[in-house]
Amino acid sequence: MDELGFNKLFAGVLLAGLVLMAGVKFADVLVPHTELVENAYAIKVPETTAVAGAAPVEMGPEPILALLADANPSAGEKLAKKCTACHVFAADGANKVGPVLWGVVNAAKGAVDGFSYSSALAGFGGVWDYQSLNAFLAKPKAYMSGTKMNFAGLKKPQDRANMIAYLRQQADTAAALPTAEEIAAESES
Ligand code: HEC
Repeated sequence: MDELGFNKLFAGVLLAGLVLMAGVKFADVLVPHTELVENAYAIKVPETTAVAGAAPVEMGPEPILALLADANPSAGEKLAKKCTACHVFAADGANKVGPVLWGVVNAAKGAVDGFSYSSALAGFGGVWDYQSLNAFLAKPKAYMSGTKMNFAGLKKPQDRANMIAYLRQQADTAAALPTAEEIAAESES
């Protein structure tokens, strides 16, 4: 390599070095290296001694019994359009994606003949009283993990009350409405 070539090479290396240093300096300006006085994200540790068991328990859905007395079954019938893709409401109805819903209030859970329930529902136990219908219809999979009812839920308590009022009428004999004592007991719990 002649001298000129060598100079060119040298100049190139020098320039590359300069560019690199300028880059480092520039990055430093963009992201200054200063020590933080405080954490960027304040980590607040509550100064209480209560630890175990203090985790917030997920609240169940709002009480329903008090709303039932004045609930509107015809509004519930309109809401039932959300259900009829999967359920038939009729005494002599057939099971579809979901079991036929007739006389479901206070019926044993998972008791419709000829319907193949999920093991979650089949093994759940108990009857569909107003409170369990309230919890189930609010968010089926939260109340019963593993249920195959693919329905997001009725978020508004009034909608659930209207829906349950309609369900109550879809029966040979409508189940009794909650008594004043039951309503009082539910709002205390
Ligand atoms: C996408 C279909 C689908 C929709 C929509 C749907 N359900 Fe269901 N439902 C099911 C299936 C499937 C089951 C059985 C679940 C299981 O076995 O886990 C079921 C079960 C039930 C049960 C329990 C019945 C029993 O015999 O134990 C009730 C009550 C019920 N649904 C009410 C409703 C109501 C009310 C609506 C409308 C607000 C609704 N469902 C919307 C599919 C649906």
